[in-house]
Amino acid sequence: MIVVASVRPGRVGLPIAKWVDEVARAHGDFEIDFADLAEINLPFMDEPSSPAKRQYTKPHTMAWSERVDAADAFIFVTPEYNHSYSPALKNALDFLMHEWNHKPVGFVSYGASAGGTRGVAALDTVLSFLGLRKVAPAVDISAVWTRVADETFTANDRETATLTAQLTQLAAYSELLAPAR
Ligand SMILES: Cc1cc2nc3c(=O)[nH]c(=O)nc-3n(C[C@H](O)[C@H](O)[C@H](O)COP(=O)(O)O)c2cc1C
Repeated sequence: MIVVASVRPGRVGLPIAKWVDEVARAHGDFEIDFADLAEINLPFMDEPSSPAKRQYTKPHTMAWSERVDAADAFIFVTPEYNHSYSPALKNALDFLMHEWNHKPVGFVSYGASAGGTRGVAALDTVLSFLGLRKVAPAVDISAVWTRVADETFTANDRETATLTAQLTQLAAYSELLAPAR
């Protein structure tokens, strides 16, 4: 599942995620679910029970749960906002719990400086609590506004090689973690 974490109009996250989608399809090991959080449009977490109980009452939660349950690995495409990550991503994570457990995740982060890495670092405690296992190869894109033109992100060779390495590790860890799931 490729998660597009930015939901604002004019976001650069969508063109970057489309590049991720292209590289993942070319990689060949994956069936892709392209999860655009703007399209999915979850409200702020509005379930009466903790997701630990998995007693969902809202159709949007049930649909999101089913979709995340079906995924074996994730790529989060996330901006850095105020040295943290997208609040829409936190909300989407908070809705569920068991559905994330024992699954690998890779990052494509971006921002003005530091390639969005401070945002990814801020996610670490959340990921480990949910049982998401971060793989090492990470794409980080700085001065992101210089990299998108005509709603298209043009990657350099290093970024494509890193994303390919990330995809290879996601496939491997997805299999390794399958017995735990
Ligand atoms: C509310 C807000 C806070 C931001 N804070 C940071 C930041 O802390 N560090 C950084 O490198 N870029 C920061 N930026 C720049 C964004 O990374 C950049 O605008 C990027 O395009 C946002 O992603 P999006 O277009 O997909 O929403 C911020 C942008 C916004 C809108």
